[in-house]
Amino acid sequence: MKVRINVRKPYDVIIETGIINEIAAYFPTYIRGGTAAVITDDNVFALYEPAVRKSLENAGFNVISYAFKNGENHKTTDELFKILNFLADNKVTRSDFIIALGGGIAGDMAGFAAGIYLRGIRYIQVPTTFLAAVDSSVGGKTAVNLGAGKNLAGLFYQPEAVICDPETFRTLDDVTFADGVSEVVKHGFIADEELFRCLSGKTRSEYMKNIVEFISRNIKIKGGIVAADEFEKGKRQLLNFGHTAGHAIEKCTNHAVSHGQAVAAGMIIMSRAAYKKGFCDCDFSQEIAAAYFDFPNVFNMNFCAEKLYEAALSDKKRSGVKINIIIPERIGKCVIKEIEAIELLEIFKLGLEKD
Ligand code: GLY
Repeated sequence: MKVRINVRKPYDVIIETGIINEIAAYFPTYIRGGTAAVITDDNVFALYEPAVRKSLENAGFNVISYAFKNGENHKTTDELFKILNFLADNKVTRSDFIIALGGGIAGDMAGFAAGIYLRGIRYIQVPTTFLAAVDSSVGGKTAVNLGAGKNLAGLFYQPEAVICDPETFRTLDDVTFADGVSEVVKHGFIADEELFRCLSGKTRSEYMKNIVEFISRNIKIKGGIVAADEFEKGKRQLLNFGHTAGHAIEKCTNHAVSHGQAVAAGMIIMSRAAYKKGFCDCDFSQEIAAAYFDFPNVFNMNFCAEKLYEAALSDKKRSGVKINIIIPERIGKCVIKEIEAIELLEIFKLGLEKD
């Protein structure tokens, strides 16, 4: 299945089971020879680099590979510069390209390296996690974390293509699979009521039954929003639903809570708080929680509103003393609301309060 992403330089997302073993066959026709630099983490390297290498070498590419240590704590400027030096040491040129192989962290770092190495070389996203497939591999956001917060240095830099084999999700643990569920819940909640309603009670094996169609539906939602607002000046901010609180939770727990779990908690916090503040007519937090039926979640963890507030305000979503938050209007429709930054503390308190 193919989904076209109509940004300034359009590209395809190709989703098929089994294509990790023949990925070179799915490249855009203009990527023919040269060096393919595979950037991945050590876990994914062991699982999928050999298959990717074999397909690339059979198609006549020279293949070099770099694996960094898995985990959000390694999405750093240090690691980024190691990747850049690896590319330079191997004399990678502008006619060569990068393969970002793995989850969101590999996609973010390899994409960022592609965007700044030689002032930009081509790259292909090959997501191997549910989260990367339905969200981070599409839309061109690339970044590394800084001490002050998540994704604070980065570029909007679109890939040449996204090639996704959902068979790779079978090696994910349940927490990592659930990270993808969070972004799916988000897409349904902000833009597609029917999608959202079909998530409640859905098990992992049910997700996997029609996974190609399911990813494609999510990518169409995300692709439509990204095409309308590639550089996040307006509508694309809707995709950040749950992320202001979520990024703060990740930071406060030093990433012990995964991105998807933190976003899930963030969506609950914001829905509950929006209702209590009178920004919307219903509290949708129970419906959001129900979408995690078969998955580990962090809804019962006791986060401290003050600590989350401190962490959130050093996040990039702060702009002067006003910030934008994303709040529900109804299921399938969220809106952007500008608030005073200091109001965020009350919002976190209300969102964390048990009734
Ligand atoms: N993950 C949100 C975005 O790509 O805008």
